[in-house]
Amino acid sequence: MRKPFIAGNWKMNTNCQSATDLASGLAAELSEVTTVDVAVCPPFVYLQSVAKALSSSNISMGAQDMYFEGNGAFTGEISTEMLKDVCCTYVLAGHSERRHVIGETDELINKKVKTAISGGLLPILCVGELLEQREANKTDEVVTEQLKKGLAGIDAEKVLAVTIAYEPVWAIGTGKTATSDQAQEVHAMIRKLLAEMYDEKIASQLRIQYGGSAKPENTAELMARADVDGLLVGGAGLKVDSFSAMIKTIA
Ligand code: 13P
Repeated sequence: MRKPFIAGNWKMNTNCQSATDLASGLAAELSEVTTVDVAVCPPFVYLQSVAKALSSSNISMGAQDMYFEGNGAFTGEISTEMLKDVCCTYVLAGHSERRHVIGETDELINKKVKTAISGGLLPILCVGELLEQREANKTDEVVTEQLKKGLAGIDAEKVLAVTIAYEPVWAIGTGKTATSDQAQEVHAMIRKLLAEMYDEKIASQLRIQYGGSAKPENTAELMARADVDGLLVGGAGLKVDSFSAMIKTIA
């Protein structure tokens, strides 16, 4: 049985005060929740303050990105060692905004996933198609390529550290959520592919989150689907009320 996993990706939002307020608010609101894994991914500069606010809670913390090299002369970058040092458990890899706004390639993302695992972080590998790719019936092809390239060279034992997040780009920040049928269809395809790449047992253990305008109103319907194991939440994760309502719906 896969334990539901909900993560809030705060993106380039909050400030020092609002980040710690959000974290403390969630810690208080979710203190009784044990049946759902919960994580928040604040901006780098607030990780330490958020870690403090979450210190006696059951909420984990992740970073939104990392670099694939160890510490050294890489101006502006952040290493796994640094993220672990400030209490991160998870790290996002290949979020669509990094792929399509910053220009990250599958090869770079694969290096990050590998480095995260070897450094002891749990990567959340994000995949998902653009609107024009969906309209051209290329969703499976795009997601397959992103998954195969993103997980290249990662063996069966190591892949268990990974969570996959399916985030159709056209649903991110648009208010236009994928229907639960659309989400389930791609999640089932991803799980089948993972079974081919690894085996059935591993595929059945790996968690696949859905992301893209997930909110309290559509949480129950999305989470009711067989292969939807969690949510990666943007906008609705920035408010204590909406994020905790989603988690309580699942718990
Ligand atoms: P929204 O929930 O704001 O659509 O963002 C989804 C997302 O990109 C989470 O990583």
